[in-house]
Amino acid sequence: MRILVLGGTVFLGRAVARLARAAGHDVTCAARGVSGRPVDGVRLVVVDRDDPAGLSSLDGERFDAVVDVTRRPSHARHAVDALADRVGHWTYVSTISVYADQATPGGTPASTPLLAPAPPEVDDPSGPNGHWYGACKVACELAVRDRIAADRLFICRAGLLIGPEDPSDRFPYWVARLAAGGEVLAPGAPDEPVQLVHVADLAGWLLHAAGTGLAGCFDGIGPVTTRAEVLAAIAAGVGQPQPRLTWVDGDFLREHDVRPWSGERALPLWLEPGYEGMLARDVGAALAAGLTPRPVAEAAADTRRWMLAEPAAVARGGLDRASEARVLRDWHHRGR
Ligand SMILES: NC(=O)c1ccc[n+]([C@@H]2O[C@H](COP(=O)([O-])OP(=O)(O)OC[C@H]3O[C@@H](n4cnc5c(N)ncnc54)[C@H](OP(=O)(O)O)[C@@H]3O)[C@@H](O)[C@H]2O)c1
Repeated sequence: MRILVLGGTVFLGRAVARLARAAGHDVTCAARGVSGRPVDGVRLVVVDRDDPAGLSSLDGERFDAVVDVTRRPSHARHAVDALADRVGHWTYVSTISVYADQATPGGTPASTPLLAPAPPEVDDPSGPNGHWYGACKVACELAVRDRIAADRLFICRAGLLIGPEDPSDRFPYWVARLAAGGEVLAPGAPDEPVQLVHVADLAGWLLHAAGTGLAGCFDGIGPVTTRAEVLAAIAAGVGQPQPRLTWVDGDFLREHDVRPWSGERALPLWLEPGYEGMLARDVGAALAAGLTPRPVAEAAADTRRWMLAEPAAVARGGLDRASEARVLRDWHHRGR
């Protein structure tokens, strides 16, 4: 296939390009080349999608499949305007952040209401706390649906991606923390749901979709597991098969200014109340349609290899060790 990745210079887009290249496809990535570089062996066409005519350097070219990862509605719109008539299959990579209901477990694309699309004047998803991210992705989906026939459009609402080249501090926090050993602060309850997907497994599924003409709207995440299973699998994957986990309940953590999800003082994979459904979606349809997630232990081992090989590329965030030790000490002394 001739495949065009709109993006392709970082994490998921790079993984798509890498796998496509390895499978013998003819791969073009279109990006500015600012965030990163595409993998060896693929063509980079330098484009700036902030310019409505930015994709004109691809004029006259035809592709069997396009994969677009954009977060900006204007980029999604200009891409379909420029390319819709010269492309076979179209994949738009969306996100589970499009859902208005993040509290109800077991949701599917058909059962979960969406956020309202970002208003026309909003094109930057990065507002305060990524405020417009989900709404911009909804607007991107609408722009793509408007121009691409449903029988050749694959909308993949990705969940939490893990694996090498992760630009976030979320999974890398746990890989580093469990590899370091000692007493580990584990947040919330052991049986709370967690749901992840290795970036290469999602990339492989996107290529499978392009190759088989899969159409429709799916969540792209692995099966629901628990935080205890995930932490145990990460520990096993990084060579610490007997982690010393101390589970600390959520209220206690919040009282001690430990934060959910990612960033400073965060314990990633732990969510605030109201997000009980976010990592507990029913992905039976995706698994039946070819998504094949590898074990979390393998993902942890891969991620650790990358973190050791490229330490400067790893995002450093999450609860620092001194603060973790203080919270654990207070937890052990509570009620005394
Ligand atoms: N990470 C997660 O856990 C997660 C979870 C759910 C969904 N997702 C979704 O998964 C996708 C991740 O994609 P990704 O990993 O490839 O990262 P990304 O950060 O979405 O990549 C954006 C790509 O677009 C390019 N780009 C940005 N601005 C551009 C411009 N003005 N003109 C041309 N190109 C531009 C970037 O390259 P240059 O900057 O070099 O131009 C980069 O290659 C996104 O759709 C995200 O919403 C991610």
